[in-house]
Amino acid sequence: MLYQLYLVTVLVACVDSVVSAQNFSLYAYGTGITSGLQLFYGDGQAYVGTSAPSFLSQAVNITLSKSDDGTEFVASPNGTVDWTSQPTMYVDTTDGAMNAVGFVAGNETAPDGATVTGFGLYGGWAFHRDDSSSIEMKFIASPTNETDVYLVKWNAGGTKSADDVAIALRTMAPVAISS
Ligand SMILES: *[C@@H]1O[C@H](CO)[C@@H](O)[C@H](O)[C@H]1NC(C)=O
Ligand SMILES: *[C@@H]1O[C@H](CO)[C@@H](O)[C@H](O)[C@H]1NC(C)=O
Ligand SMILES: *[C@@H]1O[C@H](CO)[C@@H](O)[C@H](O)[C@H]1NC(C)=O
Ligand SMILES: *[C@@H]1O[C@H](CO)[C@@H](O)[C@H](O)[C@H]1NC(C)=O
Ligand SMILES: *[C@@H]1O[C@H](CO)[C@@H](O)[C@H](O)[C@H]1NC(C)=O
Repeated sequence: MLYQLYLVTVLVACVDSVVSAQNFSLYAYGTGITSGLQLFYGDGQAYVGTSAPSFLSQAVNITLSKSDDGTEFVASPNGTVDWTSQPTMYVDTTDGAMNAVGFVAGNETAPDGATVTGFGLYGGWAFHRDDSSSIEMKFIASPTNETDVYLVKWNAGGTKSADDVAIALRTMAPVAISS
């Protein structure tokens, strides 16, 4: 009996550490933007930046983990929020769309054309994959009116503004360069 209890404890401990090891943060890399801006949650949308912009009522850094089925990115706040459930990331892959990447909580519905499934990591690079398509990495950083803060969009063939930047979202944190 004691032995069995011990075994169960060890197994649970293993599962726990595997699950928490799967949490990751995402950082943006692209030409013309500060390298490694961290992705955060802001009023239901995904932003990358150094700090929370004043125009958001709720902004919080997040770690992401994969859902049980393995193709959803579920957010956990790194800070105090009043969420009753964990928001899940979505992209709008409608042909010709160029919409913000966002999050839906349990009792909300994603906007028309948006999907919460199909996400994954490929060697630490975030991708989305439709049923019919191959792996795609079409993230865009769209400048806001605050320095070093960008709204993250998904480019499904829409028209890019001149100051929009194609970015890779990676789990790799930027290397601090001391001056
Ligand atoms: C995320 O964390 C960084 C470093 O701790 C902090 O400077 C920044 O303000 C945080 N961003 C948000 C949206 O809370
Ligand atoms: C990791 O993800 C799990 C499941 O979403 C969550 O419960 C936990 O708080 C997360 N841990 C961190 C450090 O964010
Ligand atoms: C979470 O917050 C702690 C304390 O401020 C900080 O050390 C850590 O880097 C943060 N992690 C993320 C993913 O923002
Ligand atoms: C979701 O649930 C929260 C807390 O119960 C509630 O405040 C919010 O209005 C609900 N949202 C929707 C879209 O039903
Ligand atoms: C900055 O942009 C946000 C979001 O578009 C807007 O709500 C806010 O009024 C703008 N602030 C200024 C100072 O233009």
